[in-house]
Order: sequence, then structure tokens, then C-alpha cells
Amino acid sequence: MSEIKVALLGFGTVGKGVYQVVQTHQKRLEAILHKKVRIVGILVQDETKQRDIQADILLSSNIEDILQISDLDIVMEAIVGVEPGYTYIRKAMERGLHVITANKELLAHKGYELKRKAQQHGVRLEYEAAVAGGIPIIRTLKHVLRVNETIKVEAILNGTSNFILSTMRENQAAFVDVLAVAQQKGYAEADPSNDIDGWDAFYKLMIISELLFGHQPAWDKVEVQGIRNIQYEHLLAAKSLDARMKHVATIEISGGKIHASVEPILIPKSHALYAVEGVNNAINVTGDVVGELSFQGPGAGALPTASAMLEDLISIYELKEVSSIPTAQTFVETNQLQEEEWL
Ligand code: NDP
Ligand code: HSE
Repeated sequence: MSEIKVALLGFGTVGKGVYQVVQTHQKRLEAILHKKVRIVGILVQDETKQRDIQADILLSSNIEDILQISDLDIVMEAIVGVEPGYTYIRKAMERGLHVITANKELLAHKGYELKRKAQQHGVRLEYEAAVAGGIPIIRTLKHVLRVNETIKVEAILNGTSNFILSTMRENQAAFVDVLAVAQQKGYAEADPSNDIDGWDAFYKLMIISELLFGHQPAWDKVEVQGIRNIQYEHLLAAKSLDARMKHVATIEISGGKIHASVEPILIPKSHALYAVEGVNNAINVTGDVVGELSFQGPGAGALPTASAMLEDLISIYELKEVSSIPTAQTFVETNQLQEEEWL
């Protein structure tokens, strides 16, 4: 059976999650793709760290080593920050490789350039994991909600912030203690300031804006506040009003202008975001035809993120097949071949 050769750029929470699911779900991937998915290279920063990986995988801190692997098909990028990911993804595309990334900071800054670069080189750029973890919101906005003009998105986009606010309120726990748990569970970034100061949710909102409206609002016109200064007393006060404090990212278009904000606000019991707890994210999308839709699910962590990245991988190869429709004869032959391989 032929193979899809994958290189992982980054082997932290997300990279390890992808590696694990490729092992546990190999049979399922084969059944869908009729190809094996094989991780052939892993890029890390520190080659001396102990890693639990198969001996035949090339581990390197040098991107050239990884990109020179013969017959590489795809890179899955899960490094933190704009650089070096931006440079590495560009190099990968220049070599004709498809790219899947979970890196929202990079996409918010450089998504437009990378999408153009992908087009220029005839490769795919997929980024489901960059927004709302395991919730398939990018694919839904891109491929499913087509006739609708989206008027408004109101969302909880940072799992760490939602986890902290929920856990502080439920357990009367201190902010720093809950943040430490979020880091230990792999929800928060190693440097959690983007999470707790609102920037992580902001980057995700900018990615949504570009997708829905074709561009982002001027960043300095967006109100961005995090949850760093929220105390238990604030959460109690919200409770006394039959409400909950939630970190909410909102974007809407009216009169041709985009209005966006990212801030902790009071959410009444009747609102769809009230019941979104723990590490979950939620996205309420208002379309002009369908009205309001709600999507909810795990917004961070190894497995939800790996789920989104591997669904991206499937979409690249499935859509590729669809774009070259086989003749009736080749279809029969392909099916026979697959059956033989499964015997
Ligand atoms: P980690 O900090 O756990 O892992 C980062 C990985 O990147 C490490 O393996 C590290 O190497 C490697 N790395 C860092 N700098 C470099 C460099 N200069 N060159 C090569 N490799 C480098 O991060 P996460 O796995 O949590 O996150 C990865 C990306 O995915 C981020 O962009 C994050 O925002 C995004 N993301 C994270 C989610 C989550 O739940 N954690 C969910 C969705 C997206 P080494 O191992 O040697 O230190
Ligand atoms: N740190 C991010 C969060 C990871 O807590 O939402 C998922 O993007």
C-alpha cells in the first residue's frame, strides 16, 4: 500500500497528539485514504531531549534535514509564534508540500501571504486546529455555510480562559493555581500571556474575519482584554445576577464595517454561551438565511487538536481524489486493488 509521508514540525502537546493518533487510528486512516500515513521526520528545538518515537523517524533541529526527506508529501506545523514557522512553511510550499498548521498567531499575522503562496505553488494550506481546537468550524464556514452571509460571530475561543473562569468559580480556586493546571494539561501555552491577556482569542478571531469577510479589521481598533485581573469576587458578583463571566470574542459586519472585540463580559443564563464550561469553546454564528447556529466542543489539548489536524489531512487527500474523477473502468480497478490489499 502506498504511503503519505508526513513531517511534524514541533513535538510538544500538539505534535505528540498527532503522533499518537496516527498510531492508534492507522487502520482507520488506511480505510479512508487507501494509503498508510507515516510520520517520517520530526523537527524539534532541542535534539537532546528524551523522546518516545520510533527509531526509523528522522529527528532533527534543522529544517533542511526534514524537508530533504525523499518523497515527503506534507508538513504538519505545531511550533509556537510567527517565526520560525512562517519561514519553514514557505520553504515547504516552495518544495510542493501541503501544509497543515495549528499555529494561530502565525496565521493571524501571515495567513493572507501563506494562502497566496499555497495557490502559487499548487499546494493546500489547512488550519482547522488553529481556531477552536477540535470543533470543525473552519471547514463549516468555508465549505458548509455557503449561501448564508454571516452577519455575526460570538464565541468563546480560548480554552485556557474558559477553564480558568469555570474552575475558579466552581472550586473557589486561585487564578494562579488553575492556570498551573491548564498548563499541565497542555491547554495553556508554555508562555500563557497570550491566553490570559486575550491575544490568543484575538488571533483566532482575526482568522475568522479573514475567512468570512476577506480581510481583518485594523488591529488597533479592536478592544482586547484578557482575564488576568479577574478575581473570585467578580465571579461571585456575576452569579448573584444569575449570570456568568465569560471571555467572549465578537465580530460583526454592519454598514460594510467590521466591528470586533475580545473581552470578559457577563453572560445571562438564557444565553447559549452561559453553559459552556471548562476547556470547551463555543461559536455562535448568525447567518442571514439560517439564523443563529451554535457549535461547541473541546477547544484545546492534545487529542482535540490532533483530531482537527488529521481531519485536515484527510480533506486534502479526499478532495484531491474528487478533483480528478476516475473513469468507470479505473474506478472498478481501484476498488479491486483495495480489496486485494485488505485480504
Ligand atoms: P509546545 O510548547 O508544547 O511545543 C512546541 C514544540 O515546538 C516543541 O516540540 C518545541 O521543541 C518545538 N519548537 C519550539 N521552537 C522551535 C524552533 N525554533 N525550531 C523547531 N522546533 C521548535 O506547544 P503546543 O504543542 O502546545 O502548541 C504548538 C502550536 O499549536 C502553537 O502554535 C499553539 O498555539 C498551537 N495550538 C496549541 C493547542 C494546544 O491545545 N496546546 C491547540 C491548538 C493550537 P522542543 O520539544 O525541542 O522544545
Ligand atoms: N492555548 C490555547 C487555548 C490552545 O487555551 O485555547 C488552543 O488553541
